[in-house]
Amino acid sequence: MRVVFLGLPGSGKGTQAALIATAAGVPHIATGDLFRQHVRDRTELGQTVRGYMDRGENVPDQLTIAMVRGRLQEPDAARGFVLDGFPRTLPQAEALDTLLQDLGAPLDCALYLEVDGELVIRRMTGRRVCPKCGAVYHVEAKPPKTAGVCDACGTALVQRSDDREDVVRHRIEVQWAEAEPLVPYYAAQHKLREVRGDGPVDEVAATVASALGLPSA
Ligand code: AP5
Repeated sequence: MRVVFLGLPGSGKGTQAALIATAAGVPHIATGDLFRQHVRDRTELGQTVRGYMDRGENVPDQLTIAMVRGRLQEPDAARGFVLDGFPRTLPQAEALDTLLQDLGAPLDCALYLEVDGELVIRRMTGRRVCPKCGAVYHVEAKPPKTAGVCDACGTALVQRSDDREDVVRHRIEVQWAEAEPLVPYYAAQHKLREVRGDGPVDEVAATVASALGLPSA
């Protein structure tokens, strides 16, 4: 299975992509997570991208494309992948098509999670993440068993620096303007599947699985 998830920041791409990747037995590759790891590791790429991320702007295409090209050529991606947060500009989508054509493994489908803008603001300002294992929670919709503590590894949860309301609004405005043309791009290739992303996580997951021809996760 080779799938990309499209949608507004906070539409639930990461939540749903993780479930689908587990169900399909393929890696979940999230460009935001890869960039955050570079920032934590203080790599050269991490130092370069940090400012873009904190301001809620897209990292330049050439840096993002080079990182994804390397990741998709790692052995685990040979059996397929679920891409989350990439592509999010037309040049990224075109670069992905070229790379997959070179690898002889074309994309199966682009899944677009449709949600309302005000809903994603509530979701993102309530999101808490584990800085150690990457688990994602929400203070209302998916709280941890003990407030502020990761269920999986016991680490104190944090709020992402780009989940402040002002940055979230900027991300929606700036990033979605660049990502929206991807919907007609994949529709023209007959690869687009559109799913409403505003229900509870398990209901959305069932609809996503059905759109991808998988049994419910
Ligand atoms: P990235 O980490 O990809 O951020 P994003 O696209 O803005 O997406 P999010 O992770 O914020 O949201 P999501 O849709 O995954 O929602 P989630 O499932 O977590 O990117 C961060 C930054 O990196 C970017 O700003 C940019 O600078 C850079 N970057 C990354 N990729 C790039 C690229 N390709 N090109 C250029 N720059 C790039 O859910 C959100 C919250 O809602 C969670 O708390 C969750 O628990 C909750 N939730 C989810 N689903 C539901 C539901 N159904 N009901 C109730 N709550 C729910």
